[in-house]
Amino acid sequence: MEFTPEIRKATDSIYQKISRVVPEIEWSIHAPYIHKINKLKKEKNAVILAHNYQTPEIYYGISDFSADSLALAVEAAKTKADIIIMCGVHFMAETAKLMSPEKKVLLPDMKAGCSLSSSITGEDVRNLKKKYPGVPVVSYVNTSADVKAETDVCCTSANAVKIVKSLGVKKVIFLPDDFLAKYVASQTDVEIISWKGTCEVHEQFNDQEINEIRKNNPGIKIIAHPECPPDVINASDFAGSTSGMIKYVKDNQPKKVMMVTECSMSDNVQIDNPKVQFIRPCNLCPHMKKITLPKVLHCLENETNEILMNSEIIEKARKSVERMTEIGR
Ligand code: 13P
Ligand code: SF4
Repeated sequence: MEFTPEIRKATDSIYQKISRVVPEIEWSIHAPYIHKINKLKKEKNAVILAHNYQTPEIYYGISDFSADSLALAVEAAKTKADIIIMCGVHFMAETAKLMSPEKKVLLPDMKAGCSLSSSITGEDVRNLKKKYPGVPVVSYVNTSADVKAETDVCCTSANAVKIVKSLGVKKVIFLPDDFLAKYVASQTDVEIISWKGTCEVHEQFNDQEINEIRKNNPGIKIIAHPECPPDVINASDFAGSTSGMIKYVKDNQPKKVMMVTECSMSDNVQIDNPKVQFIRPCNLCPHMKKITLPKVLHCLENETNEILMNSEIIEKARKSVERMTEIGR
């Protein structure tokens, strides 16, 4: 697509915002897509929701709402749009569909999965329930609708501790993130039965790396996502969901910070916090990175890659997400 003077003018305010992290040569490729997507989404009454791990050209260029997975689920239930495009991964698009079953929900790349979500099936949960009868099941939102349909209440990294405590029970089955389960166990007295799922991005960090960075950068604040291994969380100054990490930087304005999480977070947060210096050992999520501007445009133009689910699964799975949002209220 051609980067015309008209498109340059129409998209210049977006570029001024992200120019610190997106080189001009790349902008000439992104801008025509951004211009076309923004025009088309208005014509089609579509809304673009983006997870915090999306690249800056998606996050600042085309999204109407960007957030962590909890807020994306809440927003999907509220939107008045006819079409929701989820710039995120498959379980996020499914969750949007559960919350707005009457809407058309599209995912620009159906292969955008998640190692946590693919670590467990509905059948696995049914077997666990047989093994531990009567023990409530709390599932991380990073799960398929089949797993959510077998779940009593969902949670995200933003509210996992609160949800587990709210049940007022001694024992909980907590799925599928083993590290998040350990984090929750460290914050409550509840006995946690966990699953061996891990996030392929966060499991790569280790505490030696964190300690080395702290030694070489006196005064640095290190903030980690709770999907990281427990040693990494213990070596950090703060642990929280992607939005929790963003809020930490905004409120504390540390001189230097390292976000122990996916790489696009540092780019996106840097833009809104120009005085903060980011140290960037980060890992890319190959699933989040499957979402690109050309794929968003293709899926918006042709209304392809629609999330379709059977109504029984929708009903059952939605209840577990609604219970979560009710407890969060
Ligand atoms: P958040 O709920 O913190 O946005 O995390 C989602 C996720 O997939 C992190 O890897
Ligand atoms: Fe899944 Fe990890 Fe990617 Fe998040 S970062 S979508 S948990 S693989």
